Amino acid sequence: MFFPLPPSLSVFSALLLLQSPFPVNAYKPLSDSFLQAIPSPGDAIDPLNGPLLAPILIPRVPGTPGQTTAQRHFINFFQSELPNWSIQWQNSTARTPISGGAELPFANLIFKREPPWVKPGQANLLTLVAHYDSKYQPEGFIGATDSAAPCAMLLHVAKVVDGYVQRMYDEMQELGEGGSVKMDMGIQILLLDGEEAFEKWTDEDSLYGSRALAQQWSLSPNPPSAKFYRYRTPLSQISLFLLLDLLGAAAPSVPSYFPTTHWAYQHLSTIESRMRALQLLESSPPTPFLPDVNVTTGEHMAVSDDHLPFIRGGVEVLHVIPHPFPKVWHKITDDGEHLDMRTVRDWSKIFAAFALEWLDMMEVWDEPGDNTEEVA
Ligand SMILES: *[C@@H]1O[C@H](CO)[C@@H](O)[C@H](O)[C@H]1NC(C)=O
Ligand SMILES: *[C@@H]1O[C@H](CO)[C@@H](O)[C@H](O)[C@H]1NC(C)=O
Ligand SMILES: *[C@@H]1O[C@H](CO)[C@@H](O)[C@H](O)[C@H]1NC(C)=O
Ligand SMILES: [Zn+2]
Repeated sequence: MFFPLPPSLSVFSALLLLQSPFPVNAYKPLSDSFLQAIPSPGDAIDPLNGPLLAPILIPRVPGTPGQTTAQRHFINFFQSELPNWSIQWQNSTARTPISGGAELPFANLIFKREPPWVKPGQANLLTLVAHYDSKYQPEGFIGATDSAAPCAMLLHVAKVVDGYVQRMYDEMQELGEGGSVKMDMGIQILLLDGEEAFEKWTDEDSLYGSRALAQQWSLSPNPPSAKFYRYRTPLSQISLFLLLDLLGAAAPSVPSYFPTTHWAYQHLSTIESRMRALQLLESSPPTPFLPDVNVTTGEHMAVSDDHLPFIRGGVEVLHVIPHPFPKVWHKITDDGEHLDMRTVRDWSKIFAAFALEWLDMMEVWDEPGDNTEEVA
């Protein structure tokens, strides 16, 4: 999956990135007490019997029963724990080098929470992404970092943000706020299928799910409305495409890959360093997970991953993938035993904090000891 971008694409995406102005959020950092209140997934993300992760530490190759098991796991989680999230499938089929001319099924899952008052195309959406398929070879490959653990981290994030989002929407509705483009913020989680190549990574043999979804979204204009014309398609509703991949090994180092989202990288990096300073993280790596270095230019190779079809559509991407990749990458040893659970739990908290901060949740946070607003 380490792959130099063709020069034409690099230039093209650089131009696109320069042209797309960033939506400006009111960005208020979470207070220390808010960071302290962010729960760890704890045992829920245990690889042996944690309900978030254990059920998907199985081979999940498209067209096999493992694929269905993983899908059912995600659907059951949202239906039973987070019933106010909408669930949407985006299905496609494609021939692959190993399917002997037959079409294999690929199914992306979209879990979304947006303000109850919005019309289609009205909300901007923080978009958290990971792929849930596993690699066809080596046989029995489970892909714990690639990307079962990132999927489980996103389930944790959804659970943490849900109550705050509910409160935010309830309060905004009570106050008659909402309806301005900037305030109508939501969150969606994309669990993508068919990221892996079946044989050898090429443009056709890889990214089956993300290519299908980006294409469908680019071709589905939202209903026209003068007020909300800004979000012309579901692609343009994505305020940030935060892609998690290959996370869960000890001592990761994730650089900033894209100049236009470097500011968002720095917010994520700041959350990590603040949580470390407050002793809210369990791991003690030699260097931070997010050391604030750039690998965007020069001789460094770009990483081919699910963001590419979206970048071509003008979407802003924050790619959270370590450089270098974990040692277990694409080896049979990328399994539950080789996850570093402190690191997995720490990532889960960091992403939950980032999502809460992005969604401006200081608005609904009550500082402990602050009795000025509500008196019982
Ligand atoms: C779902 O949304 C409704 C309407 O806003 C709300 O009354 C209910 O409490 C929510 N349910 C959960 C589980 O948050
Ligand atoms: C997509 O595929 C899944 C699993 O193969 C199936 O359960 C679901 O109903 C399909 N959804 C749509 C909208 O086609
Ligand atoms: C990384 O890139 C950003 C944005 O281009 C720049 O402001 C920053 O100084 C760079 N950091 C390093 C360590 O080169
Ligand atoms: Zn992979």
